[in-house]
Amino acid sequence: METWNIIHLNEIDSTMDYVKRNISALPDRSVIWADMQYKGRGRGKNTWLSPRGGLWFSVVLKSKDNMNPWHTMMTFSVALVRTLRRHSVDAWIKWPNDIYVERKKVAGILVENVIKGKPIAQVVGIGLNVNNDIDRTISDKATSLFLQMGKQISLSDLLMTILDEYDSTDSEDIYERWLRFSRLLGMDVELVDNSGVIHNGRVANLLMDGSIELSEKGDKKIYRAGSLILVHEGLATEIQRKTSKIDVSNSHIG
Ligand code: BTN
Repeated sequence: METWNIIHLNEIDSTMDYVKRNISALPDRSVIWADMQYKGRGRGKNTWLSPRGGLWFSVVLKSKDNMNPWHTMMTFSVALVRTLRRHSVDAWIKWPNDIYVERKKVAGILVENVIKGKPIAQVVGIGLNVNNDIDRTISDKATSLFLQMGKQISLSDLLMTILDEYDSTDSEDIYERWLRFSRLLGMDVELVDNSGVIHNGRVANLLMDGSIELSEKGDKKIYRAGSLILVHEGLATEIQRKTSKIDVSNSHIG
């Protein structure tokens, strides 16, 4: 297996922004790992709290056969779930790009294409709550591996396992694997579309292209974007955040 070029930083604004500033100099399979980020960013305009103790990193992929960001998203989602399950944490994928344990988010993934005329690199940002404290403002919707397992875990071991899992997961049948780890099928949800309209329905399908199909009073409808709220026993119990279709944005550099 090819090696990874790991750059370990004490602190940085955001590993995503570090990569973008240095994209030309960074070889394929570079991994920028920071102990803490003071401007960590999530989907859209969301900030991503990144105190010490969590695993915050970005991966640079320059020579992928498949530059489809959704393919990369599925691959890292599966790699993360497999890593957490090795630690007996029952993680699952919540469309489009969150990793959950029970009803709380433990990790989020961003995939951004760097384009200079054509896509020249993909940057994958992963934030995994490990030994870090969970801020009380998000404690109803976020969890950490420490909270799940009751013990601290080595960040470097976790990082290496995720990267190994990525290498052994990147395959043709990734959609089937991804679907197996997604627990939304048959769940009642509220989908808030990008115009703010709420659609109530049951998840009928998660499609290969990253869209979601809801069954709404007998009608099937496909959405490519939205915020998803899980409805549990009549209550909407999930977080409501802006999500883009596949949490992918294209960034144009230089
Ligand atoms: C989400 O909104 O769920 C995606 C969160 C992605 C956070 C990670 S932490 C490492 C990398 N650097 C960032 O600033 N964001 C990503």
